[in-house]
Amino acid sequence: MSTIHPDPEATGADTPHLDFAGTTPYEDYVQADVLTHLQHLRSDDPGEMVFLVTTQVMELWFTVIVHEWETAAHALRQDRLTVARDALKRSVRELEALNASWTPLAQLTPAQFNSYRGALGEGSGFQSAMYRRMEFLLGDKSASMLVPHRGAPRVYAELEKALAEPSLYDEVLALLAHRGHAVPQSVLGRDLTQKYEPSPEVEAVWAEIYADPERYDDLVRLGEALTDVGELVWRWRNDHLVATRRAMGSKTGTGGSAGVAWLEKRATKNVFPELWTARSHV
Ligand code: HEM
Repeated sequence: MSTIHPDPEATGADTPHLDFAGTTPYEDYVQADVLTHLQHLRSDDPGEMVFLVTTQVMELWFTVIVHEWETAAHALRQDRLTVARDALKRSVRELEALNASWTPLAQLTPAQFNSYRGALGEGSGFQSAMYRRMEFLLGDKSASMLVPHRGAPRVYAELEKALAEPSLYDEVLALLAHRGHAVPQSVLGRDLTQKYEPSPEVEAVWAEIYADPERYDDLVRLGEALTDVGELVWRWRNDHLVATRRAMGSKTGTGGSAGVAWLEKRATKNVFPELWTARSHV
């Protein structure tokens, strides 16, 4: 091993520490060595790296956002509106960063995508468990979305728990009921493993809240934070749709769906539906 001669300018009294007995404290915390060696490319195409890393970056953002929404849901259960709203507001900034990470993939040509598409096999973002947990937290529950994960016990257990737990929106509606708003029992006692279906009574509750912002200031601000979340999730879906349309036209997806036609249907879904429809009645 050759002797390393430290640069004298980097070893003065007021410079950062260089000597550590084991790995650096940064490494111990961030695990950058693990993180930056998880890029196992499957083709020789130079464009595959940014495709894989963008996907991994998005998975990390999904993880952060799930954490924020779980924090918010838990705080709402305890009627701690400020804690909930702070977590939701953080998630709004994080969703903006998530959406900005489409940039490197937004203009792929079919030839560029084809250069490594075959190497993905049947792999598809459709199989993203963390994305599914986001959807479950938004109220878009579906037991059949657990099926692809039968072979991964930890992931399966997390999804199963998320399927059975109240979604973020269920907790919002429970808080509204707790504060005296007329959320019907059929909504509060709904089967939590099923997709949330919009309710005219809940729409009327939001219309009442939005019509009196002075009286319901804190709930209007909660409603607006949720609306920001809904809008940014919708934008993620649409950015994904347009990127897909540019990269592969109307070919079928690697996950076996009809591709763009299937994604178009998914992109029209409204997040927190009554927060949008109530606006017509204020
Ligand atoms: C330009 C590159 C991309 C293309 C062409 C593409 C294409 C597709 C297609 C066709 C589907 C439908 C399912 C299938 O048959 O595979 C899909 C689903 C999905 N993709 Fe992508 N995708 C791209 C990038 C990404 C990235 C970077 C992510 C980030 C994790 C991602 C996450 C997802 C998710 C979560 C779904 C499921 C959506 C749902 O369940 O509604 N995709 N993608």
